[in-house]
Amino acid sequence: MAEPKEAATGTLSELTSYEKWIQGEGIPIHTGFFVEDLRTLALEPWERKGGLGAFINLEGTGQTNDAYVCEIPPGGSLKPQRHLFEELIFVLSGRGATTVWQEGGKKLTFEWQAGSLFSPPLNAWHQHFNGQGDQPARYVAVTTAPTMINLLHNLDFIFNNPFQFRDRFSGEDDYFSGHGVSFPGRVWDTNFVADVTNFKLSTWEARGAGGSNVMFELANNTMAAHISEFPVGTYKKAHRHGPGAHVFIIGGKGYSLLWPEGQEMTRIDWRVGSLFVPPERWFHQHFNAGADPARYLALRWGSRKYRRGEEIARGRDVNTAGKSEISVKLGGDQIEYDDEDPRILQMFNEACAKVGVEVKMVRFFQKK
Ligand SMILES: [Fe+2]
Repeated sequence: MAEPKEAATGTLSELTSYEKWIQGEGIPIHTGFFVEDLRTLALEPWERKGGLGAFINLEGTGQTNDAYVCEIPPGGSLKPQRHLFEELIFVLSGRGATTVWQEGGKKLTFEWQAGSLFSPPLNAWHQHFNGQGDQPARYVAVTTAPTMINLLHNLDFIFNNPFQFRDRFSGEDDYFSGHGVSFPGRVWDTNFVADVTNFKLSTWEARGAGGSNVMFELANNTMAAHISEFPVGTYKKAHRHGPGAHVFIIGGKGYSLLWPEGQEMTRIDWRVGSLFVPPERWFHQHFNAGADPARYLALRWGSRKYRRGEEIARGRDVNTAGKSEISVKLGGDQIEYDDEDPRILQMFNEACAKVGVEVKMVRFFQKK
């Protein structure tokens, strides 16, 4: 029998290919469950981008996706980029413009501001410009880099690949105009949202307590997004799903509880600028403990146009009108108000009393 052939490249390693890549980029890597304020997160010069940056690898991503923050200096621009991973961009501060093109094709330029959401189409060239000379512009992105780099482990293929995904983007003039198509289930298919903080939402009764929501399909991606809002004095029902749902707080003040079934809860107190990712299959529940409606943007897996099949393996993916809206008593992944741990309402009563907010939850319980 022949001797096993020596591997052509590489050696045995404790690190994933993605981890090796981010460690070589020379910028901070933030880990854990939570980032308190992305707007003030420490950044360092990032040669690849030509601006400042930091990676965010939160526990709950399961290294299926990641996030990074990038800042464009006043009056400056970043270097043109293309890459073989999806990227959803949410602008945290400032205003500016982005130019997008396929190699050899027409260049499209559109403007954005704090609150804008868009996605450079997969492997299309894109370049970001700061529109203000006196202050930086900062954005956060969620990407599929960990999955792509770990599977392919060839950075030249990821960052220097001439293939054009014309099924996703072929230079259409109105691609980033903000127009879109609506689908049943509160789904809006678009490539640009001017401001997620005041985008009009629709009622979503299944998740409880007078909440409202919209789902986004962006740039023919496999990742997707949604915005949810819930009123003063209320909280949502607990639910669970797969990894990688990055939750950005864009309005209000409150907290979330995260827990693996049957185990202790972790509490995260959030405000505008905070980010957290509920770990895979952990229950999580969001509480408005402030004087204004609480609103968040989630950037995550779970496109309904291009499914990954995750729902087959472990119940429906996040927010796809499947098991995460059905009671755990019926085999689903949501805990109805009447079935929750009584300490949850007690904690909420205390949190609201502290800030002088009236609790409006009684009407949502069947048992009084
Ligand atoms: Fe969730």
